[in-house]
Amino acid sequence: MHRLHLIEIEDQPWCPRWLRTAGTNVIVVFMRAIGGERVVAHRVKQALAETGETHIVDMGSGSGGSMPAVLDSLRAEGIAADLTLSDLYPNPAMVQHFADRQVAGLRYHPEPVDATDIGDAPPGLKTMINCFHHMPEDVARRIVASAVATRQPLFIYEASKTRIPRLLWWLTLPISLPLTALSCLLFTPLVRPMTWQQLVFTYLIPIIPLLYAWDGQVSGIRIYHEPDMRALLAGLETDDYAWEVGPAEGADGRAVGMYVFGRPTAPTGESATHPR
Ligand SMILES: C[S@@+](CC[C@H](N)C(=O)[O-])C[C@H]1O[C@@H](n2cnc3c(N)ncnc32)[C@H](O)[C@@H]1O
Repeated sequence: MHRLHLIEIEDQPWCPRWLRTAGTNVIVVFMRAIGGERVVAHRVKQALAETGETHIVDMGSGSGGSMPAVLDSLRAEGIAADLTLSDLYPNPAMVQHFADRQVAGLRYHPEPVDATDIGDAPPGLKTMINCFHHMPEDVARRIVASAVATRQPLFIYEASKTRIPRLLWWLTLPISLPLTALSCLLFTPLVRPMTWQQLVFTYLIPIIPLLYAWDGQVSGIRIYHEPDMRALLAGLETDDYAWEVGPAEGADGRAVGMYVFGRPTAPTGESATHPR
């Protein structure tokens, strides 16, 4: 595979919970800024229509991620859907935050949910937004294989669709790291809910921009871009389970990032390959 599975700080069990949450808070703003939220909403809407599901189980939700906004836009279009957020490291403060919002059908699961146990997750459309690249190759393969084995629909989104050559990635790090840290300083005022840690550890002691820059750049080289994803899915296209992989386009046809969508199909001999 082309990808490199380097270490992300937020994956480490020793990473303080507040720091992990602060970093993922900035990703939410980044996703809105690049139009990723809009694209995910469009694709999830299609995934719900194609599967007939009304419940979404988001895995690796971090501080909530883009899915609550996606739920809002689905409902604004009159689409009935519920959303359960989950993470391997759920932050009780975020669990409480979503409980306090009292949005019907939206909750953050308080216990750790390991995305690698997809077969044990509650029924519904599973979504993994900017999360799949956290899985090493054997685990990633296990996840997609278990989606097929348990006939569960799975939607994966990653915010980049462009595969960067490894050498170029290393050579441009001295520029890309400070630029990503700078973007963190710009995005931070838009973070909600705002906490004192978010401000102090961004502008006074800039630990969050350092984490955001390193993890953000490492995420880029960790993503399973199309060729890697197709290698991962080899042999998992069956008569009754179909996969789509491609650039993630919104309703306006503009692509932001890439997606993978797997879903059970009726075992009627219908083609297992679906156009995007
Ligand atoms: C980059 S964050 C993405 C958060 C959110 N989906 C978003 O788009 O803002 C990745 C999240 O995946 C979670 N994660 C990593 N490994 C996981 C696993 N095996 N199961 C569930 N979540 C995991 C991390 O705790 C982190 O919150």
